[in-house]
Amino acid sequence: MKPDLEVNLAGLRLKNPVLTASGTFGFGLEYARLVDLGAIGAVVLKSVTLHSRQGNPPPRVTETPAGMLNSIGLENPGAPAVVSKVVPELKRLGVKVIASVAGETVEEYGEVARRFAAAGVDAIEVNLSCPNVARGGLTFGCTRGMAAAVTAAVRQAAGDLPVFAKLGVTGGNLLEIAGAVAEAGASGFSLINTLPGLAVDLRQRRPVLGNVTGGLSGPAIKPVALWAVWQVYKAFKLPVIGMGGIMSTSDALEFFLCGATAVAVGTGNFVNPRLTTEIVAGLEKALAAEHVSDIKELIGAAHNGK
Ligand SMILES: Cc1cc2nc3c(=O)[nH]c(=O)nc-3n(C[C@H](O)[C@H](O)[C@H](O)COP(=O)(O)O)c2cc1C
Repeated sequence: MKPDLEVNLAGLRLKNPVLTASGTFGFGLEYARLVDLGAIGAVVLKSVTLHSRQGNPPPRVTETPAGMLNSIGLENPGAPAVVSKVVPELKRLGVKVIASVAGETVEEYGEVARRFAAAGVDAIEVNLSCPNVARGGLTFGCTRGMAAAVTAAVRQAAGDLPVFAKLGVTGGNLLEIAGAVAEAGASGFSLINTLPGLAVDLRQRRPVLGNVTGGLSGPAIKPVALWAVWQVYKAFKLPVIGMGGIMSTSDALEFFLCGATAVAVGTGNFVNPRLTTEIVAGLEKALAAEHVSDIKELIGAAHNGK
């Protein structure tokens, strides 16, 4: 018998727990000819602001020994375009859609979430790594107050939809910020966003990225991500979507054991666009081989006795 991969993420029922990580799979449709989108647990869209954004100057990505650095700068076509063109098409294909909302003010986050909720997405992820223009560019995820204010605005705008707060680990104390967003109404967490990094072009004697600094992702950050999932799972009763360096089925299994209810593949999509669906198949095989009938048996199992 096939093992049961279905999970329930704060009311969002998914046929399997493998998602795409925001910003690493476009809006999903770009991959429709290459990947069976219906086989993915849910597609998490690239972060969207209210108005279109050009993003940062090039170069915006560079490979590092164990991952990559990016400084895309939230390039996106703006909420009206995504809501009218992308969401209906994904729904028509039967894909579960998690919209990632971003903004420069609390109000902008709320408005973007309201538009996606009205368009019929299945859940909202709040990208808390955006600069707050009203507060001198500090990221919203940096302080408990800012993270809570954004989460509360999105919570209110999202109606009954699950709201996942996406946190990094470098802005402030992880558990304090997680506690603040939980109190503000987050249904769960997405962990983790990229870590800050820089690469140097020796020949030109300057930083590689046009924006100077970027976000580090890929295998280099996996132990940090596992640590974050472990901590947050242990401290809160809310579901966690785990990500950071997942390149294989066994990487994904490590996240489940640390407490993730679902996992997301990010940088791995740039190496193999079909990795998400291959991990779904890999989980079925791995669970069957170990006589585990239900993936839920593994969630948090590494905490037993710890
Ligand atoms: C090119 C690129 C673009 C990204 N864009 C976003 C984004 O728009 N919103 C967001 O919340 N995270 C974004 N991320 C972060 C990923 O969703 C993910 O949290 C991070 O890369 C860790 O997972 P990974 O190691 O599997 O890539 C981006 C990552 C990369 C590599």
